[in-house]
Amino acid sequence: MICSVVGARPNFMKMAPVILELQRRGLPNLFVHTGQHYDAAMSTVFFDELGMPKPDIYLGVGSGSHAEQTACVMTAFEDVCTKHVPELVIVAGDVNSTLACALVAAKLHIPVAHLEAGLRSFDRTMPEEINRLLTDHISEILFTSEQQGNLNLRNEGIGQEKVFFVGNCMIDSLRTHLDAALSRTPWIHYQLAPGSYGLVTLHRPAVVDDPVKLDQLREVLCEIGQSVPLLFPIHPRTRKKVATLGKSWNPVKLVDPLGYLDFLGLMAKARIVLTDSGGIQEETTALGVPCATLRDNTERPSTVQVGTNKLAGTNPIGILSVARELLGSRNGVAQIPELWDGKASIRVVDVVQSWLAKASTG
Ligand code: UD1
Repeated sequence: MICSVVGARPNFMKMAPVILELQRRGLPNLFVHTGQHYDAAMSTVFFDELGMPKPDIYLGVGSGSHAEQTACVMTAFEDVCTKHVPELVIVAGDVNSTLACALVAAKLHIPVAHLEAGLRSFDRTMPEEINRLLTDHISEILFTSEQQGNLNLRNEGIGQEKVFFVGNCMIDSLRTHLDAALSRTPWIHYQLAPGSYGLVTLHRPAVVDDPVKLDQLREVLCEIGQSVPLLFPIHPRTRKKVATLGKSWNPVKLVDPLGYLDFLGLMAKARIVLTDSGGIQEETTALGVPCATLRDNTERPSTVQVGTNKLAGTNPIGILSVARELLGSRNGVAQIPELWDGKASIRVVDVVQSWLAKASTG
């Protein structure tokens, strides 16, 4: 039996197409949700909209410090692994649940497959970079989403026989659901006209946990908001920091976190996206929508090299100048990175299936 794990919002759209493909081929899969994200808006809505089955096991770990959260996932997932003894554990992305489950499985000598392996920001102050590095180094199967990932793994001495360049599973979800997302016309609900508004997301601790930086970002976003209406679906972590800051964000419109389809529809028709997210850099590239990434680095370089992404940093002057440049340019020059073709999950399950067949014959 395979065991596939999700924990936090960005895992859901990567794992959904893989889980559905496993199901389609009748491969037994124990589906575990760690509960790192637990709000209806951060979790349940994604299961419904992505057509994912209900998890077989919900660990309900919730929030905490990195150590607490990782430790809680590990303890709970160890029980799952000792009880069910899966042949392979599949984890995705770079959240704390990813590393915690990979570590448990590896120590129980259960092989780990990592979806979205090889990405590196080379910034070890990011918790996600630590999660990516460690998960990759204890995985037996590494599914990469872009060529730079293959190169990074080679440079780190990871055996090439373990690495499978399959493309981007998150783009499988995007392609499957784009029409449904657009048909909801979510922009109307916010009185926005297609192609003439900006979408903002911010949740990285390095940015939102520092009141000085958050306030600088508020100022620059309010300034950009003078020339283009900005809608900001706000992550619970950021919501708390914004409340503590206690300042006005007018004219930026702050709203609760959105479900997958409404966010995808809004992103597809945005004039510009301003974000510190990893996945949104990829989704905007797939959609050909200009994206200003409010970070100094990216672990997803193809979005900058061939896509629509531009690194704007976290300094207000840099952000303003990138936003102006993107607002002043025309869309449509970007390319779609290799193998972001909506078929990555088929390639993933092909590899898993032949790996299982080989493992069973010893
Ligand atoms: C996590 C991931 C990050 C990913 C992000 C997407 C790690 C280290 N970080 O960050 O890579 O980009 O998810 O959202 O795993 N909270 C709620 N309700 C929820 C979930 C969280 O209110 O359903 C609040 C809690 O106050 C919690 C805080 O958000 O303490 C942070 O949640 P956490 O899971 O620790 O990290 P994220 O910032 O969401």
